[in-house]
Amino acid sequence: MPDYHVVTLFPRMFAALTDYGVSGRALKRGLVRLRLWDPRAFTRDAHRTVDDRPFGGGPGMVMLVEPLDLALTAVRTALAWAGLTRPRLLCLSPQGRVLDHALVAELAREPALVLVAGRYEGIDERLYARHPLEEVSIGDYVLTGGELAAMVLLDAVIRQQPGALGDAGSAAQDSFADGLLDCPHYTRPEDYLGLKVPPVLRSGDHAAIARWRRGQALWRTLTRRPELLGQRQLSAEERALLEELSAQGVPAYAGAV
Ligand code: ADE
Repeated sequence: MPDYHVVTLFPRMFAALTDYGVSGRALKRGLVRLRLWDPRAFTRDAHRTVDDRPFGGGPGMVMLVEPLDLALTAVRTALAWAGLTRPRLLCLSPQGRVLDHALVAELAREPALVLVAGRYEGIDERLYARHPLEEVSIGDYVLTGGELAAMVLLDAVIRQQPGALGDAGSAAQDSFADGLLDCPHYTRPEDYLGLKVPPVLRSGDHAAIARWRRGQALWRTLTRRPELLGQRQLSAEERALLEELSAQGVPAYAGAV
């Protein structure tokens, strides 16, 4: 089972992941394992100091290298005992590679991940000299710490694990799994205040439904995130579907409800 480790000053924040929803169930059912390591436990002074003022001046505090180094060394030693000598080591940071579906899918195949969630203004740069950390960002904005970013990454990775989602096919049908945005979804009632469910979805014609969904996903991607289509080959059938929809103008219901 995949083995996930997070080095964090705020282990209790991870209750959002361990106590709720798909990730909570995956952990309880033993599909994945999560262990939290508090660098404060690796301090050696009476005050259990984990940060200090930056050399050169400036605002904020910088996380000390030693508690993080010792915590990471402890995680890596524990993993080495379990036969995992080269785990992927990640540090959440706005300076990193931006997380996308391809990276999530790649990380989901790893037997172990070690995440470092930094706080304050940053981490003493020498931690990167001590450990081969890859920096990962969850987007071009700045959070107050890496914990929420680590949880975002782990949530996305855990839901990819076989059996984590109720319906085995769901992760494969997600937005981005095939390079497209998701199609619209409907459930009961059939008519809500005059807003009706597209009739094809109630037709029972599975081929027609699949075709409609594909067309909607293509149309949404074209109109909302055209750059995604540029990164992907369109099949002749998909091209024909898109041409059909654009000939109709605004396709039935896309963005109209
Ligand atoms: N820490 C602070 N901001 C972050 C971001 N955008 N992504 C990952 N970690 C962060």
